Amino acid sequence: MTDKTAWGFETKQIHAGQVPDPTTGARALPIHQTTAFVFENTEQAANRFALAEFGPIYTRITNPTQGVAEDRLAALEGGTAALLLSSGQAASTFAVLNIANSGDHIVSSAAIYGGTYNLFKYSLAKLGIEVTFVEDQDDPAAWQRAVRPNTKLFFAESIANPRTKILDIRAVADVAHENNLPLIVDNTVASPFLIRPLEHGADIVLHSVTKFLGGHGTTLGGAIIDGGTFPWSQHVDKFPGLTEPDPSYNGVSYTGAVGDGIAYVIKARVQLLRDLGSSIAPQSAWQLLQGVETLSLRMERHTQNAQSVAEWLDSHNDVASVYYAGLPTDPSYAAANAYAPKGVGAVLSFELKGGVEAGKAFVNSLELFSHVANIGDVRSLVIHPASTTHSQLTPEQQLTGGVTPGLVRLSVGLEHIEDIKADLEVGFAAAREVVAAAAA
Ligand SMILES: Cc1ncc(COP(=O)(O)O)c(C=O)c1O
Repeated sequence: MTDKTAWGFETKQIHAGQVPDPTTGARALPIHQTTAFVFENTEQAANRFALAEFGPIYTRITNPTQGVAEDRLAALEGGTAALLLSSGQAASTFAVLNIANSGDHIVSSAAIYGGTYNLFKYSLAKLGIEVTFVEDQDDPAAWQRAVRPNTKLFFAESIANPRTKILDIRAVADVAHENNLPLIVDNTVASPFLIRPLEHGADIVLHSVTKFLGGHGTTLGGAIIDGGTFPWSQHVDKFPGLTEPDPSYNGVSYTGAVGDGIAYVIKARVQLLRDLGSSIAPQSAWQLLQGVETLSLRMERHTQNAQSVAEWLDSHNDVASVYYAGLPTDPSYAAANAYAPKGVGAVLSFELKGGVEAGKAFVNSLELFSHVANIGDVRSLVIHPASTTHSQLTPEQQLTGGVTPGLVRLSVGLEHIEDIKADLEVGFAAAREVVAAAAA
């Protein structure tokens, strides 16, 4: 019998979690477009509701198409279990609400996606959960100083966009664990092909699968993956929602029923997803898997193209600075070598010498690059973060997240590298015209 856990990444991304359909023999994954599943008898129905038997009940909570995608993501990240949700935002929300309640506190890096920042600072505050943002995520003492008696978790991104800051996962995980706290890492920009945070001490990983995992700019989705190693049941005072009886679920204790290894994801599924309903559609789970099957190939080319673009921009006359951890001059270069030896992915940003107006002219003139609020598409994408993705933040908050007024962000796609550079050159010509006109 093959040891499937020993499969290489490329094999897992195609096969993990799936066998040919036992009813029809279908080799590709069927899309189970159904809301409910027939129970064989009342005993089976009762067992499924009581978590004594795992099996589908209703698509808001479980569905076999979603299930295969979840098992595949868990295998790729090296986790024990996964939960797919309707978007990356839903994944971040669930990851926190699963262990933090009103009156609790969380600690997050300030270098996070603007939407996550808003969620933490404003929406969680309305629910009574306070956040402290650590401005220098590379300073373990700053994480330690932020901890309070009611702190429930640490949160950071493995590669923080738009400046590709690489998280020292081990250092931050060590501080978290010294305080009996889990570290949750958003691994969206890296994908498990480039970085697997669980191998470096993170406890929970989450993704906007909308980006590189899906990979084609077609489908929204999010995922939470449980590393299975955090000892929830040793900290009953801190995480009673996982260890104590849940009155909304027949008095079940999640750690008691399924053990520390999968309690976190099971609770998120049967309690939060049951109540909040942010389910992913079976069709979306299927589209996600289509992308996952070629993840390694796409990430290799994304990284190769982005590295080439970064080096080219770095020596370009019209560029003031380039932010890409694959460049030896970048502050994250050492961390990149330690955590992402295969490269640091598709996202990079740079500052044009001409400032904001040059940046706008640059973005407006590109043809191959699409001007969209997205990353992780096979197509090359461009955006001006200060006026779009980060526009709901104050200028100070933008700067804390690394977003300067003239910054341009690229998500380098899989087109031919010479076509990518030629398009960027069109942008530089347009930016030069604006600068010349302003000077005239
Ligand atoms: C790093 C990161 N996390 C989370 C999200 C939110 O994901 P979604 O757009 O799927 O809700 C995004 C979206 O841009 C992101 O870039």
